[in-house]
Amino acid sequence: MERLASCLYNLLNQLNRRQEEEIDWHRIIEGIPAVIPCDGGAIRFYNPITNKLSIIASFGLPREYLKRLREVEMPEVGWTIIKEGGPLIPKDYRIHPAYQAWKREFERIGIKTNVVVGIFIDGKFLGFLSLVRKKDLPFKRSEIKIIRIIAGIIAKGLSRFYHLRIEASLYDFFHRIRARYGYRRFFRDVLAMIVRCFNVNGAGIFILEQKLLKPLSILGDTLYTQPKSILDLPELLENIDVRNAFLLDPERSEQLCRSGNRLAVAPLLLHQDHRGFLILCFPKYYLLTNDDLALLHIWSSAISSYFATIHTLRRVERERGRMVRFTDDLLRSLATGMELRTPHFRNHASDVARYSVNFARRLGWNESRINRLRTAALLHDIGKIVIPDQILNKPTRLSEWEWRMVKRHPIVGTEIIEGVSGIKSILPIIRHHHENYDGTGYPDGLRGRKIPTESRLLAIVDTYQALISSRPYRPAHTKREARRIIEEQSGSRFDPQLTRFFLDNLNHITR
Ligand SMILES: [Fe+2]
Repeated sequence: MERLASCLYNLLNQLNRRQEEEIDWHRIIEGIPAVIPCDGGAIRFYNPITNKLSIIASFGLPREYLKRLREVEMPEVGWTIIKEGGPLIPKDYRIHPAYQAWKREFERIGIKTNVVVGIFIDGKFLGFLSLVRKKDLPFKRSEIKIIRIIAGIIAKGLSRFYHLRIEASLYDFFHRIRARYGYRRFFRDVLAMIVRCFNVNGAGIFILEQKLLKPLSILGDTLYTQPKSILDLPELLENIDVRNAFLLDPERSEQLCRSGNRLAVAPLLLHQDHRGFLILCFPKYYLLTNDDLALLHIWSSAISSYFATIHTLRRVERERGRMVRFTDDLLRSLATGMELRTPHFRNHASDVARYSVNFARRLGWNESRINRLRTAALLHDIGKIVIPDQILNKPTRLSEWEWRMVKRHPIVGTEIIEGVSGIKSILPIIRHHHENYDGTGYPDGLRGRKIPTESRLLAIVDTYQALISSRPYRPAHTKREARRIIEEQSGSRFDPQLTRFFLDNLNHITR
């Protein structure tokens, strides 16, 4: 049971990665024999464009076998799984028709039993997981159940990336159109296509906001442009949820268009409870057939899905923003928690973060690099969490042992952060924030440009902030004194170029 739990934990842990590329499939498959005794196995994924099935991870299979069968044309085994949906558990693969192509390869490496379980997302075949035994020991029912659970979890885990991919490509498509033309132009173009398609004299997209029907885009001059109360158009309200397009009688139509014209209306389901209408305007003697109404419905569905996609993607964006803010807050409180232990460090991390960001902005760094620096600055001293209070607050000189303890904090800091996914890129910045430009710093004694630029920048800002704050063993320095001390250590402790830039821009940086 414990082994199963640890196998599933490992599986979920891998599938929870932020990017599909970060999943370590080898770790997933190598964890399986601890739960289901077997001699080899593979995860294969199918590419429908090339019709090829490729192994993405395996264990226990000889190199020769992998060489020949790493990538193969979709085999009969694959088609059988697609047709049958369930797992393929041949009593004797040597006489099973689906195994004819693989039989010899299997025999060559001494495989006796084999089981294959498909990985499906929304009914679409993604690939399969297969396990083999070199003993004549059939897979038990309970074991097959576990393999199916594992395949199911893989499918569920991957569906996140799969759906994101679809959403992203749809978004990309719409985004490109919108970026090229802008919303207004995009809707006008759609309406122009609709007008041409039906050969009518006007068309419009209306949205319903608090009982008011407001035009989002209108083409032609037969439709009125001012908002209209939906209460004056009860047929629209009654049919708001129908899927089909319908005709409005001429008299009622005149609420929205010039007399002598008539309207055909298709409801739009924008997102959640938001509704709208796609409206066609045509001369009242003009005949619109049922086929025309069916076509209008297709247009309205396309426009509805456009709105829904935009809405979903905005939500995804918002969620992502919220997640980033959440992580930021969490890190900030971690840093604050550290500072609360000693009054002398209050606001140290947040001030250092603010100065660093101002510094980097002044240097013209891009936003993602600045964000990385901000996080590193907030957490640069997080390793001090393991230093006892009496050392941190000691008013007198530290003993050699105490000093050694303090000097470990950049390493401890990186060890703490190592476990937090998504911010691993800040590890070197934190590790090296006490390196000196002349190589006399710690923990690695790096010299000059071997020290990451972010760490060189952080070292200056960190020291300056510490100098102008009081410490248990000394009062705060004045800004002028701090400036002089930093300048004196340019070239020895600090990068001379960055120091010059820092001092020249001190007022902007410490705003
Ligand atoms: Fe530090």
